[in-house]
Amino acid sequence: MKEVIEELHRRRAVAMLGGGQKRIEAQHARGKLTARERLAVLLDEGSFEEFDMFVEHRCTDFSMDETRIPGDGVVTGWGTINGRTVFVFAKDFTVFGGSLSETHAGKIMKVQDMALRNRAPIIGLYDAGGARIQEGVAALGGYAEVFQRNILASGVIPQISVIMGPCAGGDVYSPAMTDFVFMVRERSYMFVTGPDVVRTVTNESVTAEELGGARVHTTRSSIADGAYDDDVDALLQMRRLVDFLPASNTAPVPELAHHQSSAVPDPSLDTLVPDNANKPYDITELIEKTVDEGDFFEIQAEFARNIVTGFGRMEGRTTGFVANQPLVLAGVLDSDASRKAARFVRFCDAFSIPIVTFVDVPGFLPGTSQEYGGLIKHGAKLLFAYGEATVPKVTVITRKAFGGAYDVMASKHLRGDINYAWPSAQIAVMGAKGAVEIIHRKDLGDPNRIEAHTRSYEDRFLSPFVAAERGYVDEVIMPRDTRPRVARALRLLRNKDLQNPWKKHDNIPL
Ligand code: HXC
Repeated sequence: MKEVIEELHRRRAVAMLGGGQKRIEAQHARGKLTARERLAVLLDEGSFEEFDMFVEHRCTDFSMDETRIPGDGVVTGWGTINGRTVFVFAKDFTVFGGSLSETHAGKIMKVQDMALRNRAPIIGLYDAGGARIQEGVAALGGYAEVFQRNILASGVIPQISVIMGPCAGGDVYSPAMTDFVFMVRERSYMFVTGPDVVRTVTNESVTAEELGGARVHTTRSSIADGAYDDDVDALLQMRRLVDFLPASNTAPVPELAHHQSSAVPDPSLDTLVPDNANKPYDITELIEKTVDEGDFFEIQAEFARNIVTGFGRMEGRTTGFVANQPLVLAGVLDSDASRKAARFVRFCDAFSIPIVTFVDVPGFLPGTSQEYGGLIKHGAKLLFAYGEATVPKVTVITRKAFGGAYDVMASKHLRGDINYAWPSAQIAVMGAKGAVEIIHRKDLGDPNRIEAHTRSYEDRFLSPFVAAERGYVDEVIMPRDTRPRVARALRLLRNKDLQNPWKKHDNIPL
């Protein structure tokens, strides 16, 4: 017995060293933590239980049988984040560059299966060089098994990926199918094929950072939902994110203690919307003054900034927020904004997170680049996402709600549950100038008549009242009352019961 225990200690000590002290030092020298150090930051102290520490690869080609390292390049197991169970895997770059072998894949599959069976989120930390080249097709098979599990878990448990080093080849597609992808700035990159292959095939000369760094993926490709300066910051932010997420699609939204009353009006909001309808203002001020303690976790903050998406809490319960941002492109809906918000709305709906929508939208962005880029299909994604969502939907129109964009932004007609408008709301088919130029074209040469037509259009249509007269707006509320009214509406909707007709799945315009 004593010998077995000694052997256990010895084996554990070897496994804990991964690829060895020299490679650990190299990892640190690059400003990166090791896989186990990362898990220690991510999880509650002492909560990590590691599985499969002694698993080794079985490859014998290329003299691989001479180098077997316990753990085989990935640290897996489970632990807690603020007391709530999460399953984890962290690629260990010190072992064969974190590359994926058949056994390495088997370890990930085991925690994926456990997470799904036990209905808890799964978080993967990536720092890896793709398929284990020496294993060939066995590694490819391993990837596909992992992908299949990502697909089956999608919409059942939250899946989060954090890219903390290289993430290339087969390693990119598993994160791409998870709910959220985050990166570490200047230390991580994601691409299907690296700069060398790009140079050979397309003759382009590009660095890893230019091809797939955090900047590219948070601002251009929208692959990543956010980026942080270092490992510790990224991992601490993941703890914050997990606090917002339900454990699964059958679990209730988390309810945390909150300290800010939801009954107190905020008079500063009465002057948020400028008198001049063409002047911008920052919609995040409204979000932060609506959520508990101003705590807002923004998703895709750097991409399609004309729309804001993210999580906050109302009376302690997680709530998704979608808001047009007048500061960027006047808050117009374009293809990118539509895709970004549609994905967020669908995540909320899949996990029963209520959605609050703040509307100030002048319409869809006109132009050939938008139309050629598929604006119709991308805009339809957001329309579809809102229309299929059965979670509580509370909408507040702060200013413009024009044209098709009015319909799309969680309008009453898309089963919006409670639709409020501020007195500054302008709900109409289009702005006054455009409308008058069309319906009074014959008067275009007469500035006086045009001005009179414009004023009469503004008086009649650019207010909340035409919509309110029809019941499209449930009530006109004072801006200062937004938090109290939204909180109360969400309380009313806690037992909402709405089901869509049975179908195998829908056919959202992808
Ligand atoms: C086996 C690998 C490896 C791999 C790295 N290593 N990638 N071993 N298979 N895929 C090993 C290296 O041999 C080295 O071992 C150690 O990991 C560290 O690698 P370095 O190259 O020294 O590190 P660095 O300079 O930081 O470069 C990291 C890297 C580079 C950019 C990730 O290693 C690289 O380009 N690797 C290959 C990437 C790749 O082409 N993967 C296959 C993709 S195909 P020692 O012993 O020297 O420390 C694929 C298909 C799947 O994934 C598709 C499924 C859909």
